[in-house]
Parts: sequence; C-alpha cells; structure tokens
Amino acid sequence: MAPQPTETVDTATPPPTTVEETGAIARIREYLEREQPATPCLVIDLQTIRERHAELTAAFPGAKLYYAVKANPAREVVRLLVELGAHFDVASPPEIDLCLAEGARPERISYGNTIKKRADIGYAFERGVRLFTTDSEADLAAIAEMAPGAAVFCRIMLADTGSLTPFGHKFGCAPELATRLLARAPVLGLTAAGVSFHVGSQQLDPRAWDAAIEQAGEITAKLAADGVELSILNIGGGLPGRYSRPAPPLADFAAAINASVAEHFPAPPQLVLEPGRFLVSDAGLLRSEVVLVSRKSTVDEMRWVYLDVGRYNGLAETENEYITYLLSTPGQEESIRDGATGPVYLAGPTCDGDDVLYQRNVYRMPLDLRAGDHVDFLNTGAYTASYSSIAFNGFAPLPTFCR
Ligand SMILES: Cc1ncc(COP(=O)(O)O)c(C=O)c1O
Repeated sequence: MAPQPTETVDTATPPPTTVEETGAIARIREYLEREQPATPCLVIDLQTIRERHAELTAAFPGAKLYYAVKANPAREVVRLLVELGAHFDVASPPEIDLCLAEGARPERISYGNTIKKRADIGYAFERGVRLFTTDSEADLAAIAEMAPGAAVFCRIMLADTGSLTPFGHKFGCAPELATRLLARAPVLGLTAAGVSFHVGSQQLDPRAWDAAIEQAGEITAKLAADGVELSILNIGGGLPGRYSRPAPPLADFAAAINASVAEHFPAPPQLVLEPGRFLVSDAGLLRSEVVLVSRKSTVDEMRWVYLDVGRYNGLAETENEYITYLLSTPGQEESIRDGATGPVYLAGPTCDGDDVLYQRNVYRMPLDLRAGDHVDFLNTGAYTASYSSIAFNGFAPLPTFCR
C-alpha cells in the first residue's frame, strides 16, 4: 500500500510536502514486510547509493569522490563504495580501521578532521594514510612531525552560507592564514595539496560554493606566484538529501559549481568532493512505532505523539528542527478513506525534556493513530544511526539493516 503522507501545518520553515513513493521506499517496505524487524530500525537500500554515486560521477566528470564516512558508517555501505571505486573522508582512527577492513586502500583515505591528536595522526600514517586536512599552525606542525612527507589541504572558514545545518566558526581559518600555512607546508617537508572548505550540510543554494571557490582560486594564484603549486581543489560536502523543504536537482549544483571552478581557476585543478548526505540519505528509511498518543488537557486539541525513536537514538538532526523529515504513516486505511488527520507534536521515548522532535513544525497525522502503529521517517540514511547514543535511558542504539 502506498504510504500516506503526513502534512505539516503552521510551519516556521517548510511548506506541506507530499511523499513521493521512490523505488527505494518500495523496496525497503517490501523488506520490512518480509523481515518484520523490531522497531526502531534503519533500513538502507544499497541500490540507491549505487545510483547516487553514478549520478555524482556523471555530474562531476574527473572529480574524486571522498565519501564522508560519518554520514553512515555501516559496513555494507563502506564496502559498496569501495567496490564502486570511491575514496573516503574519515574523522578518526576507528573510521580508518573501518575503511581498511572493508577493503579501501590507504592512499584512498583522507583524514579530513582538522581536530586530531598527534597520536591519531601517527596511527593514520602508520596505516598508510598520506592525506590530511588542517586549519592551524599547531596541527600542521603535528602532521609534519607524525606524518612526514604527507600532503595537506588547508580548510578555509566561510561566512554563513545559509545551509540548514551550519558549521559556525569551529572549522577553517581566514584566507590569509590558509595562504601562510600552505606556503609553510613544503618548508616542513609536506606537500601543499590545495584549499578545502565546507559550505554547510544540507545546502539548498547551488550558488553557495561560488564565493569559496573564488577565495580558493585567489589563494592558489597567490601561492603559484611564490612557486607553490596547489593541484587540488576540495569543495567538501553539502549536497542535499530530500526532506520536507524541496532541494534543487543535482544538475543545478553541478552547473553552478563547475562554472565557478572554470571561472576562478585558469588551470583546471583536480576536483575533490566529500559527499556524505547526498550519497546515503535517500537510501534510508527509519521505521518507528507509536508508544503513546496523549492530550495535555481535556480541552486541548493538540495530540502529543511519542515514538520509540527520538533525538538520542537516531534523530539528532531534529535539534532546532533543522531537518524536517518526510514522514508517512502506513496502514491507516480508515484515515485514507476519510482523510481525517489532525495536528500533532512529535517526541521521542526518553525521560529528557529535549527529546522532542517537532513542536514548531507541526505535522498532521491520522486522528485514529494509536500505540503500535508505525511511523516511517523517509530519506533518513544520513546522520541517523551514526548519531545514535549507546544507551541513553537504556535505549539501544539504532540498528541498521542493508538490503
Ligand atoms: C570535512 C567534512 N567533509 C564532508 C562532510 C560531509 O558533508 P555532507 O554530509 O553535507 O555532504 C562533512 C560533514 O560533516 C565534513 O565534516
């Protein structure tokens, strides 16, 4: 049966959206019907990841794709991307171990976290990793010491680019410092590979990359004049998944980014992308179960719907209601017939006041929704299971099944 879209009303951000039944959703529902796994759980459709990888390869010919493992570190996902010839952007030694265990060659791994212990740099180097990202004098010196001869990206900090999940000021440095650090790299025995940046995850504006590419072009030209040749441009992640606020198609992002690179780099650099969300988000469906439906007073119209999944066991990205997932409530035949839905607040199962999913973005759900019904969160392959706590309030981490 087709999923019944929930509607959102009174949205501080997105307008109501209808749920499109994609091939991935249909295949995952078939899996759920057959296997009947306990909820909550995340099911990943590997075919969708294959498709997204092919789309990206076609949209950015010649670019190297470094999958940001943090988006979804399921072994099957990493193994598939190894088979597809991807590279990997990792944030820590365990992510290095994971990629190596699934068959990635160390020269295809980039240690993209600018915050790392000296020992962890050494750990990566011992296992053959030769590419690192930095944004500070101290980290550059640590790389030179612990990973002699390695190549480095320097990450620049960007002004707010309007992404739905912005990075703030935690990462990157000013262009003038990046220029100095990249000039210093060869002095320390390192290779200055290029400039990197991240426009913020779930970026909906295809033009958001332009200012950063322009800055990277200026840094590259300045260093070339001083005899330091940067061969790579690393444009990070940010390409969107499909949530309730519609995103432009990949072709729009590719056209804007490729045009910007052509404009700001007279000699075409080797382009590097670090896609996370784009590759895996639409491949996932998170099935949850209604634990309780209640009202706060006899006269209050609003229902609170408590699910067995919340902020701490998979839906961390509902913080500040940044990401508004598409939801569906299958099996509500009564409601399909009469279309009777009403507004709800949605919350997770823990004894934590912050474990509320949506209160500003008011979703609508069937009036006869009750404990035991399923609520499916669509396109949840990215930043769900990997964000899940190990046992907050005793709840287990979100299990992932790949099909
Ligand atoms: C360094 C780096 N690269 C790539 C990514 C992936 O970003 P996205 O999932 O928006 O593609 C991230 C995400 O946090 C990141 O920190």
